[in-house]
Amino acid sequence: MDFAAELKSLKDQIRYRSRIVTPGVFKNIVISGMGGSGVVGRIFAEIYSKFPVVVVHDYHVPDFVDSNTLFIAISYSGNTEETLSACEEAEERNASIVAITSGGSLARKNCQVIRIPPGLQPRSALGYMLMPLVNTFLNPSQEDIERTHLILKEMDENHSLASKLASEIFKQERFPVVMASSPYRSVAYRWKTQFNENAKILAFSSDFPELNHNETMPLKLSYSLDRFYFIAIKPESQRIRKRVDVTQLVTERTFTAVEPIGDTLLQKLFYLIHLGDYVSYELALLRNIDPSDVSLIEELKRKLQ
Ligand code: F6R
Repeated sequence: MDFAAELKSLKDQIRYRSRIVTPGVFKNIVISGMGGSGVVGRIFAEIYSKFPVVVVHDYHVPDFVDSNTLFIAISYSGNTEETLSACEEAEERNASIVAITSGGSLARKNCQVIRIPPGLQPRSALGYMLMPLVNTFLNPSQEDIERTHLILKEMDENHSLASKLASEIFKQERFPVVMASSPYRSVAYRWKTQFNENAKILAFSSDFPELNHNETMPLKLSYSLDRFYFIAIKPESQRIRKRVDVTQLVTERTFTAVEPIGDTLLQKLFYLIHLGDYVSYELALLRNIDPSDVSLIEELKRKLQ
């Protein structure tokens, strides 16, 4: 499948109905995963807070993990060593284990396995990996899912905003800094990782209100400020909107505003995620770079074996 077709498959992925069978009793949720699989845990942890959710992007699990933990290992390939290691530790601590994967060693684990379709780049399978969590813990209505599908379909047909952003970043040879606030901080991080993997450029993400307590100084006084392209995802809260405005005022910097489209959190979240997919994809094309190429990441994984 070419990369454009992978991007276009997101709208169908959100119709994926799989659910996790949760244990009768659990007190916390730990989600482990790396890269394109790892961001799924971040997104979920930001939008769900009925239980403590801790996200692990490393080999080890936190000390509190025990039989009261619902441990969810997410790895598209099923072979990522950090995720497998964290999963083994969680098994040793008697946590209830769920694996979300398309195959590999993770699929062969003696635990609840949610087997998602293979053949995509992990970062293009975000819908397949996220929807089992969303379906289980947030239970969106069918109408919400279909509306989200439509929003993504419309973007597949017309993503001129993404092309415009990509072309500005490209023409000015800038590095994107994506700023957001709850519940979209993880989306800003997803944009950063998509810029990294698809467009092969350095990119950064940052969040309000925290950035007002550190980054605000260099936003006015750093060297090389003209090398960055600042994007601010429009905040939900009035208080944070004021912060974005005042930050631009005191730093004399202009942020390009990106506004979510949709009526529900699911719709807005996927709209923003998909917009970032397209900006990074279009930037790759402008740079004459293959958006699907992750050869250095693969080489590094081979050399570590
Ligand atoms: C995304 C990508 C990487 C992988 C990461 C972990 O497309 O190529 O970020 O997601 O290296 O691998 P998996 O997802 O297979 O666990």
